[in-house]
Amino acid sequence: MLNLGVNIDHVTTLRQARYRTMPDSPNAEPSALQAALEAEAAGAHSITIHLRADRRHIQDADVYLLRNSIGTKLNLEMGNTEEILAIALEVKPHFVCMVPESREEVTTEGGLDVRGHFDALKVTVGKLEANGTRVSMFIDPDLDQVRASAEVGASMIELHTGTFANHFGAERAAEVARLKAAAELGHSLGLQINAGHGLTTGNLPDLLGIPHLAELNIGHHIVSRAVFIGLRAAVQEMLAAMTGYPSA
Ligand code: PXP
Repeated sequence: MLNLGVNIDHVTTLRQARYRTMPDSPNAEPSALQAALEAEAAGAHSITIHLRADRRHIQDADVYLLRNSIGTKLNLEMGNTEEILAIALEVKPHFVCMVPESREEVTTEGGLDVRGHFDALKVTVGKLEANGTRVSMFIDPDLDQVRASAEVGASMIELHTGTFANHFGAERAAEVARLKAAAELGHSLGLQINAGHGLTTGNLPDLLGIPHLAELNIGHHIVSRAVFIGLRAAVQEMLAAMTGYPSA
């Protein structure tokens, strides 16, 4: 079965746009917790959040509140820094997805270079997995990055679908072939295969030919659709688009 992790970062982007300087205001909205509970009521299998070093959307208080209040699983995306690792070790999310992070980017732009940061990532992955958190590596569909993710001790990879989403025709078909090869290799190495970034109900049909997918993490499109049809309906719409996926 293909699971859906709903990324609610952009719900808090909206809150921070108005209330960044008044975090404790009783007026602060929209609520991250209410968004997570709506997503769960619609059938989401997990809630994904990215605690960035610059705290541009999700705040520390959101992480603790969601960990203690949601009924499904919490997936925390994080860059490999001591500060965020300390929070992750204390919060013990069900999953962590290691992502690259630079302050200039608008959103996560490329996959993590696991091979290039192997030693530092190995220490972090070891600490998190020993603490009961399953760790994923957010990587481009590059076969050596898949191998490095297995070697570094991760349980899962999340294949970056940004290039897939932003290309069309023959270029998209070529990216689908890369994603398929990465998924096959990862599966053969015992990794759970997830995917995310830029996925929409429009491009999902092209993605569903990729084998071994266990979970998709989707945020921007769902939150965008929610402006017009509500969050619950937007999550349901995405789940409906995922139902064609062949079960493993
Ligand atoms: N997965 C990861 C690792 C991400 O960094 C993001 C973007 O925050 C997503 C999934 C969701 O991407 P989108 O918001 O484009 O659906």
